[in-house]
Amino acid sequence: MSGRGSNLQAIIDNIEKGALSAEIAVVISDQEDAYALERARKHKIPAVHIDAKKHKTRDAYDAALVGELKKRTVDLVCLAGFMRIITPVLIKAFPNRILNIHPSLLPAFPGLHVQKKALNHGVKFSGCTVHFVDEGVDTGPIIIQAVVPVLDNDTENSLSERILKQEHKIYSRAIQLFAEGRLTIEGRHVFTISGKTDTEEFLINP
Ligand code: GRF
Repeated sequence: MSGRGSNLQAIIDNIEKGALSAEIAVVISDQEDAYALERARKHKIPAVHIDAKKHKTRDAYDAALVGELKKRTVDLVCLAGFMRIITPVLIKAFPNRILNIHPSLLPAFPGLHVQKKALNHGVKFSGCTVHFVDEGVDTGPIIIQAVVPVLDNDTENSLSERILKQEHKIYSRAIQLFAEGRLTIEGRHVFTISGKTDTEEFLINP
């Protein structure tokens, strides 16, 4: 996490109400004052700040991350708004065990400021994606996507909010599928054992 941690909060809430069978071993941020750390502490979850200034290279930073995660026998690493490019040091330590959430329908609009990019492009739908992390930026195999309409009077804020609501649902769902061992990866494809089979579902906007 680097920031406000609303996805973290949704995960915590789902665990506390029994809708997600997982345990958060640690919350790590590169920002000392990240509200995500505060949220973790409020729920008695270990909260750790790893300072980029104390690590000369990206590899050294990621090695520190790996050390902290391994110490706590973490099975799955969930990124949410972690504003650093991660290196093979982290990826190789947790092969196919790092998830990220991104506020667009990948592969459309990877990178930053993506709600603005979606609005500027004039798309009629946008949404969010939970994917496994590989060595590219927002390129890993896709697990779940949620779709929202883009409305004529949308601003970056209104679209972001609409997308965020869905982020809060699909991240927990992806973690639950992982925890149940229902995700298998074949190349770019993630198959969900007993996933959705409705072939008639569609959306039209406007
Ligand atoms: C979310 O929009 C997520 O998709 C993106 O960064 C934002 C993090 O928000 N990767 P939060 O810190 O979880 O509130």
